[in-house]
Amino acid sequence: MKYQSDQSKLPLCDVLAQYEQKSRVRLSMPGHKGGHLDTCLTHAWGSGLWQWDITELAMTDQLYHARGCLRDAQQLLADFLGAEQAFFLVNGASAGLMAGILSVVKPEERILIPRNAHGSIWRGVTLAGAEAVVMPVAIDDVWQIPLGIDVGQIERVIKEYGIKAMVAVYPTYHGLYGDISSLIEICRKYDVKLVVDMAHGGHLPYLPGDIANPIALGADIVVQSWHKTMGSLTQTAVAAVQNTALPFGKNLLYFQSTSPSYPLMASLDAARGMWAAKSEELGRALAAWAEEFSLAIAQVDGWRTLRADDFAYPVAGKDCTRILLVNDMGVSGFAVADRFSEMGIDVEMAEEQVVTMILAIGDLPQKGDMKDRVVAALQDISANYKALPKAAKNITAYLPQQEIVVLSSQPWWSRDVISLPLMGTEGKIAAEMISLYPPGVPLVLPGEEITAAVVALLEKIVAAGGSVQGYDDGKITVLAEK
Ligand SMILES: Cc1ncc(COP(=O)(O)O)c(C=O)c1O
Repeated sequence: MKYQSDQSKLPLCDVLAQYEQKSRVRLSMPGHKGGHLDTCLTHAWGSGLWQWDITELAMTDQLYHARGCLRDAQQLLADFLGAEQAFFLVNGASAGLMAGILSVVKPEERILIPRNAHGSIWRGVTLAGAEAVVMPVAIDDVWQIPLGIDVGQIERVIKEYGIKAMVAVYPTYHGLYGDISSLIEICRKYDVKLVVDMAHGGHLPYLPGDIANPIALGADIVVQSWHKTMGSLTQTAVAAVQNTALPFGKNLLYFQSTSPSYPLMASLDAARGMWAAKSEELGRALAAWAEEFSLAIAQVDGWRTLRADDFAYPVAGKDCTRILLVNDMGVSGFAVADRFSEMGIDVEMAEEQVVTMILAIGDLPQKGDMKDRVVAALQDISANYKALPKAAKNITAYLPQQEIVVLSSQPWWSRDVISLPLMGTEGKIAAEMISLYPPGVPLVLPGEEITAAVVALLEKIVAAGGSVQGYDDGKITVLAEK
């Protein structure tokens, strides 16, 4: 990989290390003054983290007015990503997606959103006062997971609905991706601004196989959640902006603290430096680890992992590091995850039939042990599968939604709402998102009518023990009657 800048530099990490060495008198925030308090965390975290937790000073620059080490660190990040501008995000990809939406759409304009979009995207659209044109996503018939939107329909939808901006999810939570190149071309042709939610895909450009990179293809704004797969601390993410006319940097201030955490930002600087030094090596090692892990699973009777060719259009490919574990004994994914947990293994997400696991660079030094423990757990389940709950194949977490829905945007938080038992909600307008946990495709979005089909599906899911966000206490929040 060729860069224009010297990617071995770590401007932010270097300044923080120097600050620590200078043992300065701290008459500024934060109040722990470098970790001199006697709490359980003082010892658990060691002195390093406390020492590096400082505030915006002359030496440490300012995130929203960067003129020093933060400017340099973000410029190096931009070069690494191949972007015109890059931003450190300290409130997750969520902050970047919301700021991105505010940057591409004006009140009452229309933005095209796939139904499997993350909650932050729906909240961003609400804050922007825009109208959401909700694009249905295909659901896999067998495995009941979302596959993505039909890119072949996008040109027609843009023209028919007067779309000004769009959000694309690339890849999905399950690691599936569609034809982003065609999508970017269509958006460019119609001057539709594109925000790509690449929260789960920071590492994709470095895996073997020339996976399309929306930043290189010129998408306006691309947001990557680096804490998910790139090795930085939880809550860190990055944004790559190719369309510098958009007010992305200013809009970020609506969604982030004015006291950005230096340990969080330093972890982004360090992760960028590490990937830049050996991106091809890391990408190859990750792909080899994913193959080794998948093969080990397939060698246990009754188990396998899903691959790209298990899925039909609109899936164009699958991230090999996102492991989708299935079994032919009919054991429910929830039961598999529970047994794993009892055996000390934490997975990312369980559904009726599929258990999702994330492999990442932090595994590489310990992969042998990880593989052995997972294989042992699978063997244990295979030996005892008769006693375990079975997957309810007739229950899907998703409503087959073939229609495009247009939702007017409203400040839902200021509307009068009431909470009603499920049975009384048919025909009412939902005031909150209802979706199966962990985050899937929302069954109902704020502003959508609760239909008889939704009520029937929710009853089934809850009877089967499913957990539903927006239906926590047996009640649904709907708009109060006028
Ligand atoms: C598809 C998708 N986009 C965005 C986000 C938000 O990322 P973050 O947790 O970094 O705010 C998530 C979080 O899980 C996600 O799954």
